Amino acid sequence: MKIIQSVTEMSQIMQDLRRKDQSIGFVPTMGALHEGHLALVRKSLLENDVTVVSIFVNPLQFNNPEDFLKYPKMPEKDRLMLEQEGCDVLFTPVKDEIFPPDYNQRFQLGFWDTVMEGAFRPGHFQGVARVVYRLFEIVHPHKAYFGLKDYQQFIIISKVVAPYFKDLKISGLETVREKSGLALSSRNLRLTPIQYEQASHVPELLKIAAGMLGKKNLQEIRDWFQAELSKYNELRPEYLEFAHADTLQPFVEGDAPSNYRIFVSFYAGDVRLIDNMAVQ
Ligand code: PAF
Repeated sequence: MKIIQSVTEMSQIMQDLRRKDQSIGFVPTMGALHEGHLALVRKSLLENDVTVVSIFVNPLQFNNPEDFLKYPKMPEKDRLMLEQEGCDVLFTPVKDEIFPPDYNQRFQLGFWDTVMEGAFRPGHFQGVARVVYRLFEIVHPHKAYFGLKDYQQFIIISKVVAPYFKDLKISGLETVREKSGLALSSRNLRLTPIQYEQASHVPELLKIAAGMLGKKNLQEIRDWFQAELSKYNELRPEYLEFAHADTLQPFVEGDAPSNYRIFVSFYAGDVRLIDNMAVQ
């Protein structure tokens, strides 16, 4: 596996590969890799000639500076995992090269930035869009892979960032979960055993809440969910929403509940977690 830090070198290698008609698959990450990331890498390895993974903890997308400082970093373990998977190129750029002073690309995120994660994490998606645009510009992939745990991010990247790159296809892969159902996340590493155990109940509650859509009204579903979470002393819900899978428009009472997803964010101790799933 080639490890590249320089943006110039990375662009050159990618241009050479394109000239040789090699297809490039790209998995952007912030490191602290887990099976969820590896599922994306494996899919890219299957579908492309060359697979590139980037590791860059993007300061622009952390609306909470403490969250940025506490974000887990384990570069050596990440490198070994990628090597074992057969990843071709690991790109580990530095901040000054990703965001040079003259980089001023900004995005109109509109409605998608006003709901759920957008509402609770001001500036987060602008930061995500800016880094992903810049990484696409450097890597210039044919396909890029994202986990659907960050569903709203997937929608914003697909609808706002990817259209700037004309032969780029965005692929979203279903969330990988622990046996308990807990969605894999690098942030899980920060949970105490008790927080971890309690957080593991949330996906089951989410599934039950999803099954109530169309049968109970939204307030009843939210009250039920809140009451269930309050049984766990470490858990605190932030939002519970039902939104359309393509548009993220909120479910309106009386709509047919088809093609909706349920979205949650909650705290386990001081660790903020998100999850979502399709309403069956
Ligand atoms: O999903 C992530 O890990 C990050 O938001 C991404 C897409 C790598 C951008 O920093």
